[in-house]
Amino acid sequence: MKIGFYNIQGGTGKTTIAANMAYYLSDRIKTVYLDCDIYGGTGALLFGLEDNPNTLNAYLTEKCDFNDIIHEYKNLSVVVCDTTPNAFDTDTDQKKFLEVIKTLEKDYDVIILDLPPNITEGNILFSSESVLKKMIVVAEDSIPGIANTLKTIELLNALNLEIMGIIVNKDRNIVDFEGILNEDDILAILPYDKKVEYQWLEGVPIIEKRSSFGKELTFLADELSETYIEKDLATLRALKIAKEFRSSIIGGNDEADDNNDNENNFKF
Ligand SMILES: Nc1ncnc2c1ncn2[C@@H]1O[C@H](COP(=O)(O)OP(=O)(O)OP(=O)(O)O)[C@@H](O)[C@H]1O
Ligand SMILES: [Mg+2]
Repeated sequence: MKIGFYNIQGGTGKTTIAANMAYYLSDRIKTVYLDCDIYGGTGALLFGLEDNPNTLNAYLTEKCDFNDIIHEYKNLSVVVCDTTPNAFDTDTDQKKFLEVIKTLEKDYDVIILDLPPNITEGNILFSSESVLKKMIVVAEDSIPGIANTLKTIELLNALNLEIMGIIVNKDRNIVDFEGILNEDDILAILPYDKKVEYQWLEGVPIIEKRSSFGKELTFLADELSETYIEKDLATLRALKIAKEFRSSIIGGNDEADDNNDNENNFKF
């Protein structure tokens, strides 16, 4: 299952939340964090990988092998982008990028996609072959934040992507989000928390679960894993067992069926 974190606005907290959410989920489910911002990705800074040459950019430009770009942080696998100006030398080969996602899907139960805020062609969000189905909008508690969130929702709806919900971030009681958005669409309200800024300053990748921000996000990660993920994985496993059972009785290769079933049930 793939979950994209997005807002057309920069700096709302997509990377912070995607990375931490991925980390919390990795406690329970095989998870990979994928920085999709080829030109402006900052995920490497959070995971202390800024000097590591094995980035998504390097793979897309054939400077390293696929396995080299998978880094481990405790239980979480991490794929990051080049944080240096060399990133601009990367010619986005969308086909190869899509292959990366497909290959990761074979090995991981959950792929967390940290999307760039731009609405340009290079953004995987607009790839002709739609790889994303479920999205979480990260909104910032500010007037521009609400305006851009409303625009983001329109855009995702136009792209026919399912919005799982909205995370309101950096909450300081500026905008009455609950009065503007449908309350049911708000997945979590994360407080403005100085510890989050220091997390970047100190190069500490993951926010303590005890912090006000960490507590809220852990709560959401638990809820997500219970309501969406485990249910779907259970269905997937049940289906696999049923298929094995069926092929043991009737034999043959059901690959075509597999594809159809995946399409109908598990492609988010
Ligand atoms: N809840 C929070 N409290 C305090 N600071 C926060 C919070 N969430 C994010 N920040 C800070 O906001 C800044 C931007 O966060 P982040 O890089 O995660 O945003 P982004 O949406 O990924 O940005 P971009 O659009 O550039 O990819 C960082 O300095 C981060 O520490
Ligand atoms: Mg980011």
